[in-house]
This record gives sequence, structure tokens and C-alpha cells, in this order.
Amino acid sequence: MATAIKIPAQLCQALLAADGILVLTGAGTSAESGVPTFRDAQTGLWEKFRPEDLATPQAFQADPENVWAWYQWRRELVLKARPNAGHLALASLQELLPGLMIVTQNVDGLHQRGGARQVIELHGNILRSVCSVTGRLISAEQLPADGPQPPPSPHHPAGLARPDVVWFGEALPAIALNQAMEAAERCDVCLSIGTSAMVEPAASLPRMAHFNGARVVEINPAGTPLAQIAHWSLSDTSATVLPALADSLKKLIAQSG
Ligand code: OAD
Repeated sequence: MATAIKIPAQLCQALLAADGILVLTGAGTSAESGVPTFRDAQTGLWEKFRPEDLATPQAFQADPENVWAWYQWRRELVLKARPNAGHLALASLQELLPGLMIVTQNVDGLHQRGGARQVIELHGNILRSVCSVTGRLISAEQLPADGPQPPPSPHHPAGLARPDVVWFGEALPAIALNQAMEAAERCDVCLSIGTSAMVEPAASLPRMAHFNGARVVEINPAGTPLAQIAHWSLSDTSATVLPALADSLKKLIAQSG
């Protein structure tokens, strides 16, 4: 029988007392929706595929058909996936805690589909396409299903449609990164959920928060380098911990109200 996860009462108190809360999420938060992570042994995408063949501008230039086909496969996985209990609980935490900001490395839009508002997407969104030359958004209606894949860009004669995701070697969207860094500097509590904390600059956000005096909470069934600075490490999955955390907070609010 599964053991119920114990949420420390002091963590709930810290969250209720906080003016600012930064939540950084990674691929682990979507694992229980059936979307594979990148670095988990056996199941992670980078265990089976080479990022340099699929997730760099050079790879797209060398073989756009192959890169486009791989992202089309991932898009189909994402479209079939449903938000899990962790996504839903995080959206309800955002209602309970108005100062909570969600910053995600995920490109699947599952936080938003789970009811979260104002999600800052650091690595873009796989369901959108942009022009490979101008970076301008290409709407779904402008993407023909037939014909060459990837389709030509309507915005530039030499452009092709490409997924609106950040590839290795590319800069993160500046506005999103600035908002995330400001939140890391201001927050009182920072939750790092389902990320291996290995990819910069996202991995530095909890460290920046810690440096600025915030308490860091890690939610991850496996150990990561963040354990060294985490005030609380909750070693279980996000779809287990986040509903338990939302329940504990609701009880505390009911008791104190
Ligand atoms: P990783 O695949 O590197 O790490 C996923 C983390 O989730 C691991 O630490 C797992 O232990 C943890 N995990 C697995 N299942 C979980 C669950 N059910 N609940 C909670 N945690 C779980 O994914 P990210 O850290 O998100 O970049 O990777 C960062 C970036 O690297 C990605 O955004 C992607 C990738 O290359 C781009 O696409 C630009």
C-alpha cells in the first residue's frame, strides 16, 4: 500500500506567509501525463536520441525534414496527453496563494490546460510554429498539412516553419527570462519541481532565490544537485506531492479562518 506523503507544517506556514513564491517546473511534472522526460534512465528522450541531431539550429539546417518529423511526433504525444493531478493541484495552489508565479521549462502547455494562469514559458511551446528566418509566429491555419514538411514560411521566401522552442545554443525569450529572474530575486519560497536542475539558465533560478534568502523546496523522486540547498526535499512524484500540499494548505487556511 502506498504511504501518504507527509507535508511539513512549517512548509505550509512559510507558503502562507510568503509575499512571493516562485515555482520552477521541469519535464518530471508531465511524466505522469505520459510525456517523456529528457534525462531519466531508460525513459528519457536524451537516452534514445542525440540532442545535437534534433535540438540545435545546425541540425534543423542540415536536415529540416528529420527535425520537423521528430517534433511532429512529440506534438502528437502532447496533444494526446491530459494534465495530471500535479498540474491541477498547482493551478489550485495558484488560487490559494496569489503571489505564486509558475515558470516552466516545459513546452507542452499542460500547466495552462490544467487551469494555471500566467505561466512563464522559458523554453517556448511545442504547439506553436515560427518562421526559421524571422522568428515570426505562424498560425495553425497558415500551416498546410499537405506538401513539403516542414512547410515553407509565409513570412520569408527562404524561411521554413519550425517549432517555437528554444534549441541548444539559442537564447531564451528575454522577457520570460527577465520575469523569472526578478521572481527569483524577490521570492520568499522557491519550489523546484520535476527538474534535474542541469540546464542553464533555468537551473540557476532556485540557486538565485536561495542566495537572496528564499527557502528552496524540491519535489522530485530522485536526487538532484539542488538537494544541497533545499530546505525541504519531498522525494516523491509531483502528482503525489502537489495534491497533498494543496490539501494541507486548505486545511490550514480553514483552521486559521
Ligand atoms: P530532465 O529530464 O532533465 O529531468 C526530469 C526530472 O524529473 C528528473 O530529475 C526526474 O527525477 C524528475 N521526475 C521524473 N518523474 C517525475 C515525477 N513523476 N514527478 C516529479 N519529478 C519527476 O528534464 P528538465 O529538467 O525539465 O530543454 O530538462 C531541462 C531541459 O532540458 C528541458 O526543458 C529541455 C531539455 O533539453 C529544451 O527543450 C530546450
